[in-house]
Amino acid sequence: MPAKSTSSAKAQQNSASSNQDLPSFVVAELRDRLLQWYAKQGRDLPWRRNQNPYHIWISEIMLQQTQVKTVIPYYERWLQAFPTVEALAAASQEQVLKQWEGLGYYARARNLHKAAQAIAHQHNGQFPTQFEAAIALPGIGRTTAGGILSAAFNQPVPILDGNVKRVLARLTALQKPPNRSLEWLWQCSTTLLDPVHSRDFNQALMDLGATLCTPRHPNCGHCPWSAHCRAYALTMQNDLPVSETRSPIPHKVIGVAVIWNDSQQILIDRRRQEGLLGGLWEFPGGKVEPNETIEHCIRREIQEELGIEIEVGDRLTVVDHTYSHFRVTLNVHHCHHVSGIPQPLECDEVRWVTLNELDQYPFPKANIHIIEALKQVGPPSSVNPSP
Ligand code: ADE
Repeated sequence: MPAKSTSSAKAQQNSASSNQDLPSFVVAELRDRLLQWYAKQGRDLPWRRNQNPYHIWISEIMLQQTQVKTVIPYYERWLQAFPTVEALAAASQEQVLKQWEGLGYYARARNLHKAAQAIAHQHNGQFPTQFEAAIALPGIGRTTAGGILSAAFNQPVPILDGNVKRVLARLTALQKPPNRSLEWLWQCSTTLLDPVHSRDFNQALMDLGATLCTPRHPNCGHCPWSAHCRAYALTMQNDLPVSETRSPIPHKVIGVAVIWNDSQQILIDRRRQEGLLGGLWEFPGGKVEPNETIEHCIRREIQEELGIEIEVGDRLTVVDHTYSHFRVTLNVHHCHHVSGIPQPLECDEVRWVTLNELDQYPFPKANIHIIEALKQVGPPSSVNPSP
């Protein structure tokens, strides 16, 4: 596809079109067709209504792993809570994670916070316009930098997110999984990018992937690129991109304690910063060992993690939740605090809070289901120790 491709890119490609690089007049036609289609069919999205780099940056980070319709309400609430990069930099991590609660991949929120502090203190409050400075910020990789710099400043910087990989893999009838031909695909995106209308071109490419060139049932009949699409010409649009072979995600069975004290408060802990859900609050617990009962697991975990003795009572609920890279089943029991002062032995902090106060803390999604169950049933009249 690149008008002039390198031999290494060709060697990597192994595609139906590997010897048929597009002549520049076809590149010009692809640009024109895409831009004309976008002028009529492009989506009206909140972050496209102005060119404020801070707004665009927030949207690009939220959109990294999340669909547009999920992002919109989060984006709007975020800008109410943190209207400027300075406001974000000055917020506490807890406020930031609370705004992000439910959106997943919480490292994105922690990185936004750190990057806001870097922008406020090292870049005079201005989002950097240089590519190298932009990707040096936490949470900003090559495609996010391209998305931001093209949308905010109309810079000719290419993008390659999941949707764009699919569009380009079909356009070129790529015969490998996209993630094994990344340099090739970056070259495609670079070659195709319209140097004058970079903002609209990149936005259009994303819209094409999101609305017509969809993973299943692509709408080739309405696609501005179908005349040049190798997959369409070969009737392979439903078979491409070639999929990665994936191993099944792990399943963790967890025993979880809702520990009550005599003042009807509940014990919660803040996870360490590292890891997928770092910095979020949770109900304490841990993995059930082979041949272990849930009740035994809960008592053991609470002793190991918090150094206290509890009685394990009735089951409150069972929550099944799939995160990006693993699935959890949370077996949640009401428990009663018996002795010892809770200590943060394997977490950053512990706190006793009332049922009404739980909403002030950021929790992972699976824990939100526990809070809902708790609000329905309230505290137990007594916690019955299990036999
Ligand atoms: N995904 C990533 N960036 C996007 C944008 N600016 N508009 C729509 N979807 C996107």
